[in-house]
Amino acid sequence: MPLDRPNGRKWCLITEFRHRITKVHNKGKRLMALKTVLVSLALAGAAFIPPVSAAQLTVGFSQIGSESGWRAAETTVSKSEAGKRGVNLKIADAQQKQENQIKAIRSFVAQGVDAIFLAPVVSSGWDAVLKEAKDAKIPVILLDRDIDPSGKELYLTAVTSDSVHEGEVAGDWLAKAVGDKQCNVVELQGTVGASVATNRKKGFDTAIAKHANIKTVRSQTGDFTRAKGKEVMESFIKAEGGGKSICAVYAHNDDMMVGAIQAMKEAGLKPGKDILTVSIDSVPDIFKAIMAGEANATVELTPNMAGPALDALIAYKDKGTVPPKWIQTESKLYTSADDPQKAYDSKKGLGY
Ligand code: AHR
Repeated sequence: MPLDRPNGRKWCLITEFRHRITKVHNKGKRLMALKTVLVSLALAGAAFIPPVSAAQLTVGFSQIGSESGWRAAETTVSKSEAGKRGVNLKIADAQQKQENQIKAIRSFVAQGVDAIFLAPVVSSGWDAVLKEAKDAKIPVILLDRDIDPSGKELYLTAVTSDSVHEGEVAGDWLAKAVGDKQCNVVELQGTVGASVATNRKKGFDTAIAKHANIKTVRSQTGDFTRAKGKEVMESFIKAEGGGKSICAVYAHNDDMMVGAIQAMKEAGLKPGKDILTVSIDSVPDIFKAIMAGEANATVELTPNMAGPALDALIAYKDKGTVPPKWIQTESKLYTSADDPQKAYDSKKGLGY
């Protein structure tokens, strides 16, 4: 923050100290006073004045909804990350509907926000509305999901995990866990058309393709919700001889797995033992299930997408720093060997 920028509080201090200096006739004393002025200004700047642009920024966030514990945590963490940086974050909940997200973006453009964060429910159908934001010179940042390549020039950066890699990590874990044993997998997919559902499937398929003994025998969407995950798992169990021929469940998120665990228990099966489980997100409830021996593995997805997005936006607004097109978040595998209690405790208070 340059010291010579005459704004607000600093400018008042300059005037006040200038007045004091004129009263000091002794040259030595004047120099001392000048030093005091500069030190006071520096302290005032460091301690009380947030970066000018961050304090003035208003960001509109088109959030998908609250389909999963992870999504609820992402919303909570986004609010607190914005608060830390003095950014005014306006969140619009789209209730899982793309049409609501498009309306929200148009409303943010009309309000003249400084930037738009978008968690796109599906990957296609964004070009027209994002072009409107671009024409209005409002930068758009994607959070946690991607859009089709045709929209690449329409957003500033995307803060997401490598969701193909998440699927690969899940598939590699399963291959290691089953060894040479024949293994029929049932898959609970995320929302149809969501980049993360497409990619998590692709990554898992690639990983198990290297192992002739592992096959996905059934695959259906559970829309990232617990209720749907349970319902679809019940139908898989019925179709697979009461679950006897199922060796593992792969779910694109933990919430669907929590629902599937319930379905397995109700069918008299022992999840985590009779049927192995691997899913994605690392929500607190999956750590509870791991500790109870009812789940086996989860790949972590951080709910803090907004923090890196806000840092990129502030640097862009303040200094014109253009961020990389993709800011990748980490994907870490957890099993019972990775202190699930500690992981569970670390998630407390994040809004899951
Ligand atoms: O886009 C991230 C995914 O969306 C999470 O894995 C899932 O829980 C959420 O609904």
